[in-house]
Amino acid sequence: MSDTPRSLLITSIGKAFAPRPDSPYRVDLLQADCLYCREGRIEAWLDSASQAAEIEALRRKGLPLCDASDALLLPGFVDSHTHPVFFAHRAEEYEMRNAGRDYLEIQRAGGGILSSRRSLMAADPAELKARVRQRLKRFLRLGTTTVEAKSGYGLSVEHELLSLRLLKELDAESPMPRLYPTLLAAHSVPPEHREDREEWFRRINEQILPVVVREGLAKHADAFCEPAVLSLQETETLMSRAREAGLGIKLHAEQIESAGGGALAARLGALSADHLEEIDEAGIQAMVEAGTVFALLPGSTYFLGMERWAPARRIIEAGGRIALCTDFNPGSSHIQSMPFILSLATCRLKMSAEEAVWAATAGGALALDAAGEIGCLEPGAAADLCLWPFQDLAQLPYTCGDNRPARVILGGEVLGQEE
Ligand code: NIG
Ligand code: FE
Repeated sequence: MSDTPRSLLITSIGKAFAPRPDSPYRVDLLQADCLYCREGRIEAWLDSASQAAEIEALRRKGLPLCDASDALLLPGFVDSHTHPVFFAHRAEEYEMRNAGRDYLEIQRAGGGILSSRRSLMAADPAELKARVRQRLKRFLRLGTTTVEAKSGYGLSVEHELLSLRLLKELDAESPMPRLYPTLLAAHSVPPEHREDREEWFRRINEQILPVVVREGLAKHADAFCEPAVLSLQETETLMSRAREAGLGIKLHAEQIESAGGGALAARLGALSADHLEEIDEAGIQAMVEAGTVFALLPGSTYFLGMERWAPARRIIEAGGRIALCTDFNPGSSHIQSMPFILSLATCRLKMSAEEAVWAATAGGALALDAAGEIGCLEPGAAADLCLWPFQDLAQLPYTCGDNRPARVILGGEVLGQEE
């Protein structure tokens, strides 16, 4: 997102719900119907009944005005797990799975991540960038104002760096969601290194990581910690190196097999472990104790046609902090809509609307180490907001299928509907 800080006065807000960054799952109804945003940030909440004079003074300053027309106001969603840098769709794999083939079986036969790698490598970089731009703008229209975006379909020194540089270029455009790029070179071991996996890891450590740090291409590093892809030991070695280089750590863990990836994330001091459909009680405890965020991706469970949903209720009872994310990618979750994820979280993970809204905003911010800066309505936070045509929070996950905000405000700027 480029830097054009805006001031704005939002009036006639029907209800404003504030997820509290340091109190998991608490979402407060604010006693104010007017919001003053200054230089792209939330400055002050005002109530027209008791603070009419202050509001009038702000009006006289000639600030841009936004009439919220009794809408419900929430922070924009923070989607802390996505893979938008890909070229071609993989609808044929979706068909194959629905006809009974298995995700890992398709992957072993050269499909999956490796098929996305082939199409990305063959793509015209300008066309690839145009497609990624379009996807990122679609996130905004769906109410997502912050997007974590992973590399991981390049899987060569050249194409991993190309993926991250492309994100950096798009980040300078406007309007664009706030981007948090993540290095996911450890998404898979490319076929040419299958007989010598160490060689791929050496390239990550010696040829990709130093460039990523030098050029500021990523805030976090991630690995697909799954017995069929990377062992616990390989994950630990790679992520320790990335952490030493100054990156925050995230892990894809416990999606298909329960193998201790959650506990490893806790031990590594990772910000989050993501997926966790198969996490066991010991893993939950380890993550709660370490304060590792549980990033849950019910879109991929749904999209892969799997039966086991992440144990959200158990995680909440144990005191864990959840982030909800789309996992948007061409293979296991071709879903960009956070409202749809909230529907899955309530209907299938049995979270309440409040819990789900907190996890999709303040929880996502925690998973990006940005609590209090985004995903909340505290003074000083980014003025990234959505106006919804609802009277109550429960209508958000309840409205399913084509659920978009009436207005999106990014850094204090009201975006046009076509964007
Ligand atoms: O988060 N799990 C690993 N990566 C992606 C899927 C990648 C793909 O199938 O293209 C995920 O689900
Ligand atoms: Fe993922």
